[in-house]
Amino acid sequence: MTDKKTNADVTAKYKKYLFGSTATYYADPVALESGKGGRVRDFDGKEYLDFFGGILTISVGHANEKVNAAVRAQMERLGHVSTVYPTLPIADLAEKLVHLAPGKMEKAFFCASGTEADETAVALAQAHTGRQELIALRHGYSGRSLLAQSLTGHAKYRIIPTQVAAIKHAHAPYCYRCPFGLTYPSCNLKCADDVEELIQTTTMGQIAGAIVEPIMGVGGFITPPEGWMKRFVDVIRKYGGVFIADEVQTGFGRTGGKMWGIEHEGVQPDVMTMAKGIANGYPISAVITTAPIADAWKGGNISTFGGNPISCAAANATIDQIVDDKLVENAAVMARLLREGLEALKAKYTVIGDVRGKGLMQGVELVKDEKGGDRTPAMEATGRLFEETKKRGMLVGRGGLYNNILRVAPPLVVGRRDIQDALQILDDSFAAVSK
Ligand SMILES: Cc1ncc(COP(=O)(O)O)c(C=O)c1O
Repeated sequence: MTDKKTNADVTAKYKKYLFGSTATYYADPVALESGKGGRVRDFDGKEYLDFFGGILTISVGHANEKVNAAVRAQMERLGHVSTVYPTLPIADLAEKLVHLAPGKMEKAFFCASGTEADETAVALAQAHTGRQELIALRHGYSGRSLLAQSLTGHAKYRIIPTQVAAIKHAHAPYCYRCPFGLTYPSCNLKCADDVEELIQTTTMGQIAGAIVEPIMGVGGFITPPEGWMKRFVDVIRKYGGVFIADEVQTGFGRTGGKMWGIEHEGVQPDVMTMAKGIANGYPISAVITTAPIADAWKGGNISTFGGNPISCAAANATIDQIVDDKLVENAAVMARLLREGLEALKAKYTVIGDVRGKGLMQGVELVKDEKGGDRTPAMEATGRLFEETKKRGMLVGRGGLYNNILRVAPPLVVGRRDIQDALQILDDSFAAVSK
């Protein structure tokens, strides 16, 4: 008798005891047993190139030695106290984040998930302005709480009707499927201008703010065209709103060349939310803002798990490594190689309609026949492509309203060889799907 578990054993138990709604990829899910650097291994011993990194969370590679050492040391010293007691890891992390953030950010608050960070940011915008009404984007994603489900612009992530009447959803800057049927740049950014009419017609005329992802992650890496963000944010500010940049996916160098996604846009946020890549997988999220906005939170404020010393130690070690090893720059260099390869695949396979994104956050939208002018979302082909990449030892993410978009997002430590291998696997997989 051996107690060695297989993928099937682990998956059977997972399916038996977790909520049936818990999403997994692939007909037979990949049950992961271990990981190192840019690779993970399943319970059947098969190795995969990990180009999704626990949903854009593994910044510096699986089982990173420096992060592990920091976690181990903190674990031996002090495991948990809550935000009621100051600890050095949380104070260090707050200092680090306000210095890394663009503009005049002075204050941080820590929670345990991206959802809670977004909730905190919205509450701050409302408390600071004394107003309730909020602009979110169609195709956006903010998380699982009732407020976050209401902010989210996808029916499939709502299990009950929207609960918050004060949220108005503006059009997304989704050029490939322009909501106005226009083409950039002759559209003159109509989708950004439209938010003015949205505010004038569906709110009291003054708003609390807007929450925007610099690149829309779950939405399928929808990347605003140049100039959109500034135009959009100008309108938000004209109507008294606080601008919240949701950097949960785009933060910590993910977009290449800049620490934050919003820095590509020449716009200063009033509030930033962050999670995922901050601590290489340890659960922690943060809200960073100016002192006047932070001070608008007048009530008591506790987060039991927020700023847990172990998660903070992991975040400090992760961020130090991103800075010291110049991983933001590495992301930009590797992204050029990745993007070039993906564009070459687009030229080769008509099932690829669009390649978009920044840095190591590249989306590939699958359609029926791009060259034949049929942009019907190719959900079935996306499913087959997933099985083909899995067979060849590569993990990628899936997203978009129609679930027809590949999310290609390796760790920031990715090297040339892994990018080349991934592109070869994608090429072979697209060839198999295109037969
Ligand atoms: C942009 C964005 N905001 C918020 C969230 C919610 O984060 P969490 O799943 O940690 O609650 C996510 C999760 O994918 C996200 O992508």
